[in-house]
Amino acid sequence: MDEMRPTTGTVPTMTTDRPEIEIRGLHKSFGDNHVLRGIDLDIARGEVVCVIGPSGSGKSTLLRCVNLLEEPERGQVFVGGTEVTDLDVDIDAVRRRIGMVFQQFNLFPHVSVTANLTLPQRRVLGTDKARAAAVARENLERVGLSDKADAFPAQLSGGQQQRVAIARALSMGPEVMLFDEPTSALDPELVGEVLSVMRVLAGEGMTMMVVTHEMTFAREVADRVVFMDGGVIVEQGPASQVITRPQHERTRNFLNRILDPAATPPPAGHEGPGSGKTAGGGRGA
Ligand SMILES: Nc1ncnc2c1ncn2[C@@H]1O[C@H](COP(=O)(O)OP(=O)(O)OP(=O)(O)O)[C@@H](O)[C@H]1O
Ligand SMILES: [Mg+2]
Repeated sequence: MDEMRPTTGTVPTMTTDRPEIEIRGLHKSFGDNHVLRGIDLDIARGEVVCVIGPSGSGKSTLLRCVNLLEEPERGQVFVGGTEVTDLDVDIDAVRRRIGMVFQQFNLFPHVSVTANLTLPQRRVLGTDKARAAAVARENLERVGLSDKADAFPAQLSGGQQQRVAIARALSMGPEVMLFDEPTSALDPELVGEVLSVMRVLAGEGMTMMVVTHEMTFAREVADRVVFMDGGVIVEQGPASQVITRPQHERTRNFLNRILDPAATPPPAGHEGPGSGKTAGGGRGA
């Protein structure tokens, strides 16, 4: 039984009693499109929060505001007690503390797996060659890909490429990991291996914010599930509550749709046979 603790710098040395991530009154618009409409969210150190919600509800925008890939126009974000929305903040220093994994793996195609893990360490952190290689080895082992160290990304399956992307993020020694639908681009049979790696990370105490449609993962791994719709948090709580006994109609409709896609109600205006509000009778799972 490998009840391992991380050997790399995932355990923050700084101790504060503040949440690891604090989001206060966050607003973001793209032109006239008011995408985030006042988000308040705290994530404690070591907590795993899954963010769910319909397409366009602002999930990715929220994640991207946490590491300033998007600049919010109002509100504050703190990571590890540092205000990242402060105009004077050293944004590169902040980003080093935040690992991000996207739906598309974004690996460098022309270099080996190992180089994918060592180059960012050397360029961004200034790590020396030997140390960067050692960290790369450690993290490839963590994601179960030690045997692919010399392969090129194109020689790997999608699931393996995503595990490399996770190892690359971990090699930077982040305090926090953000995942934006990390399994959505994968064939169904490859989803499990990526979720397993994320499950281990969660067990090691990594602070994680995960946008996902994988309800089984959310149920089993998340400490908290946040349901977003229309740029606001509609409800949040333990997975057992939000997924199994949602309080809000919008949450129920969303869950009905993703747990049983065939039950998606017809578009507005279409006359369904029963004229029931939703096809919510039989939720698949
Ligand atoms: N860079 C951008 N420029 C303009 N509009 C954007 C940009 N990024 C997102 N949007 C808009 O913001 C809204 C929210 O998008 P976002 O990607 O955050 O949603 P999402 O909840 O992640 O959806 P999905 O589940 O489809 O990934 C959408 O209307 C989208 O078109
Ligand atoms: Mg998205």
